[in-house]
Amino acid sequence: MLAAGKGTRMKSERAKVLQEVCGLPLVAYPLGLAATLRSKSTVVVVGHQREAVEQTVNRFKGKQSVEFAHQREQLGTGHAVMTGMKPLKSHEGPVFILSGDVPLLRKRTLNQLKKAYEKKGGPLAFVTFTTPEPGGYGRVIRSENNSPVAIREFRDCSESEKKICEVNAGIYLIDAGFLRRATRNLKSDNAQGEFYLTDLIEMAAATHDVATVDAPMAEVSGANDRFDLVMVEHTLRQEIRSKWLAAGVSIQSPETVHIDTDCKIGSDTWIGAAAHLQGSTTVGKGCIIEPGAIIRDSQIADNVVIKAYSVLENAKVDSDATVGPMGRLRPGSHLKKGAHVGNWVELKNTVLGEGSKANHLTYLGDGEIGKGVNIGAGCIFCNYDGFLKHKTIIEDNVFVGSDSQMVAPVIIRKGAYVATGTTVTGEVPANAMAISRGRQINRNGLALKIRKRLKEAKKELQKKRGTESGTKK
Ligand code: UD1
Ligand code: CA
Repeated sequence: MLAAGKGTRMKSERAKVLQEVCGLPLVAYPLGLAATLRSKSTVVVVGHQREAVEQTVNRFKGKQSVEFAHQREQLGTGHAVMTGMKPLKSHEGPVFILSGDVPLLRKRTLNQLKKAYEKKGGPLAFVTFTTPEPGGYGRVIRSENNSPVAIREFRDCSESEKKICEVNAGIYLIDAGFLRRATRNLKSDNAQGEFYLTDLIEMAAATHDVATVDAPMAEVSGANDRFDLVMVEHTLRQEIRSKWLAAGVSIQSPETVHIDTDCKIGSDTWIGAAAHLQGSTTVGKGCIIEPGAIIRDSQIADNVVIKAYSVLENAKVDSDATVGPMGRLRPGSHLKKGAHVGNWVELKNTVLGEGSKANHLTYLGDGEIGKGVNIGAGCIFCNYDGFLKHKTIIEDNVFVGSDSQMVAPVIIRKGAYVATGTTVTGEVPANAMAISRGRQINRNGLALKIRKRLKEAKKELQKKRGTESGTKK
């Protein structure tokens, strides 16, 4: 697999194969495909941003063992393959050559390539596609009897060759022995001064029949620039949605719904318009994900309702729980069975116990909340003192009245009752009531006096302003 290039056309700080499509770096896709080939060995040719690329490859290689070949200078695809063959010194037989920047390639096409190769008896088969706009791709030159005799890189093409619409997809199956011999003879006397892998076609065609397989452009066209990335992502998103529709998931206005490659969704779940399921998110069966919800790297169990415009990240929501609308679950949030989080409620690193509720305008940070707890409107866990984060523990069946603050570290024991407007600064014992607020005093008729006084003061002020502006004139 060739992944050493910089990807100049991306105009990015990041190596091309690390650009993301549907939540995964480009290179993860051909790696996944390579894993299904069960080949003897996989070699990834790295160069540009080598450490980052190797790290990413190791993360996404799955069970296959991968060796890296370091191409110090990017002298062309031929040189890259030569480098990649170093760890394969003793290998005999055919070698697949894949590109790190062609994410939508299917196994079916590689199987066809293998068949075509075997039919001709090798030593070389490659994938082509046909397009009315062949752009910068290498053109497939065919003889009078229609067998491929060469690939001509765009910049080395004559005007008539440029008109050829059949192009090279950059995916090959080549005999190892032939590959070693032929790459040794490559020259860089071309428009780009590079060692072209594509020159091998002419070498093979001199003595053998070269095989080709024609594939759909959407599958094999690579991602060379941001436009290609958009196209590739568009195609892949459609494929992902189709997969989940077929698996029994309902999707409203499908073209607006984004589901990343690694997400999983149970049947009878309904996903509203413009919802995004990102990263490694899993959603259970029978859930409702309302419009505009954004859920990243989270685990949602069965029969959960995530209402409109909620944002979840690294959160866990157990069955029958409800979030939102406009709920916010930050990393480490865990809603247990049947828990409710309502509008404008934010959780961070907090467990909300079974059947517990926090329904309105509340911040719960670094908390541990038991079963059957009710947190009233506008409550705050004051978890941060400017230096350290502290924990709030609320045991089972506690009632916390609205507009209360828990100044952590603090613990509220079982069955306690926190009166509305209380600032809890110390432990509340089991079944106790905590209250901290001034007593209410009513002064009869005082409102009328205050109003009168204020009205007069206002008049006075307006009069004064009037004379001031008068003198200025
Ligand atoms: C290549 C083909 C072209 C084909 C096109 C299909 C050659 C000379 N040309 O052109 O016929 O139509 O792919 O996409 O092969 N790479 C390295 N080391 C290098 C150079 C490239 O590892 O020194 C890697 C790149 O990271 C990339 C792949 O090889 O994954 C293809 O290189 P790229 O520069 O994209 O080749 P194209 O110009 O697209
Ligand atoms: Ca390319």
